[in-house]
Amino acid sequence: MPVPSTLLAPSILSADFTRLKQSIEIAEKAGADWIHCDVMDGVFVPNITFGPFIIQAIAACTTTTIDTHLMITDPDRFIEDFVKAGSHQITVHQEACPHLHRTVQFIKSLGAKAGVSINPATPVSTLESILPDLDLVLLMSVNPGFGGQKFIPSSIGKIRTLHEMRMKLNPGMVIAIDGGITEENAEEVVLAGADALIAGTAFFKAANPLQTATKIKALTR
Ligand code: DX5
Ligand code: ZN
Repeated sequence: MPVPSTLLAPSILSADFTRLKQSIEIAEKAGADWIHCDVMDGVFVPNITFGPFIIQAIAACTTTTIDTHLMITDPDRFIEDFVKAGSHQITVHQEACPHLHRTVQFIKSLGAKAGVSINPATPVSTLESILPDLDLVLLMSVNPGFGGQKFIPSSIGKIRTLHEMRMKLNPGMVIAIDGGITEENAEEVVLAGADALIAGTAFFKAANPLQTATKIKALTR
């Protein structure tokens, strides 16, 4: 499936939180398609970040799509709060949701796009039954919890497998890849089938984020 251009989603986790508004402006100027917001609870992942309150602050600064990645146990408790705070897309972890179908329908019922993420050790095949219901799949290419980790090479094969699966079951679904994305590996992940690249370190810590964004967004397959 030809993609017109790659979607870029800077991950706010690597931004300067003392200058959050300015960081969002940099992302906007760079043509960010989504602002990726990493929510961590210290239980599902070994780190704690922020909740709906910060999402609300981000939403007040931008009209860009807010893509919220919930790395929390039992996310159903908080999904409504995150949508009300301004999230346009909510992604939950397959590993954190015993009733994933119900959770996905709940996200959609609130008017948000529904995504499911899987950890590096979770096979893509576990998504087969839910795939027709999804707007996006977020493949983790690092173990979730921290920015600045190294891309796990076996993720490339998982993108390919997922790409084949979605062509049969849900061609309109977006494949996003999250963790360790750099200017160097961006082309390989796009060629494998990824449509959206989450970039924390590679974007916010770049000498020239605008240049990095232009290179990533120009990738096609
Ligand atoms: C990791 C988060 C990622 C992270 C990516 O748990 O889900 O979104 O911010 O950061 P980089 O691009 O630095 O790997
Ligand atoms: Zn993320």
